[in-house]
Amino acid sequence: MKNLKIAIQKSGRLNEKSVLLLKNCGLDFENYKSSLITTVSNFNLEILFLRDDDIPGYVEEGIADLGIVGENVIDETQAKVQYLQRLGFGRCTLKLAIPKDSSIDRLEDLNGKSIATSYPNILQNFLTEYKINADIQTISGSVEIAPGLGLSDAICDIVSTGGTLKSNGLKPFCDVRNSEAILIGREGLEENPIICELLQRIQSVLRAKE
Ligand code: PRP
Ligand code: ZN
Ligand code: MG
Repeated sequence: MKNLKIAIQKSGRLNEKSVLLLKNCGLDFENYKSSLITTVSNFNLEILFLRDDDIPGYVEEGIADLGIVGENVIDETQAKVQYLQRLGFGRCTLKLAIPKDSSIDRLEDLNGKSIATSYPNILQNFLTEYKINADIQTISGSVEIAPGLGLSDAICDIVSTGGTLKSNGLKPFCDVRNSEAILIGREGLEENPIICELLQRIQSVLRAKE
């Protein structure tokens, strides 16, 4: 039988805990060094190390059978995938944030302002819901630098410890949504003994942590 493929984050907030979860399932493999694909030596599984933003697309296309990625990224890409299991790690909040000394005080104050983000779809839905007309500047990373450079009046990005905001002279303004890591599967993922076995192992690791 062909090996299953699971996509996990190459580096960043979810990498370490994704690797740990799979290791705790008894899988034997090497974490990402330079090869973007690794074979698990004691299970019919290959691990793809990808940018988190690309994971829902790989799973939607069926290039990977499974993936571990933040809910925020799944939502943003609007990929058609199945939610198989909440994983309880990688908890964070997508927030609007503003410079420490900003005069922005209420949500309405964002009207006519520009907001930098890597999550334009989620942000647009949020702004539409609150009838705010702001200019969204989409950038793919280091969003926290934008206000200081004069690119935007506010940002919308993931906050976990709050350290990145703080060290860039920003303060949280408003929560947009919460997120955590999710195990996703491609649509039409057939009942397959290997997937069942892996899911059972993941669920028992999660239960042991409760
Ligand atoms: C998020 C966000 C910040 C950082 C915030 O990045 O973009 O860079 O985490 O964390 P903190 O509040 O603990 O300082 P993410 O891990 O989603 O990685 P990516 O933007 O590179 O995909
Ligand atoms: Zn990312
Ligand atoms: Mg980031």
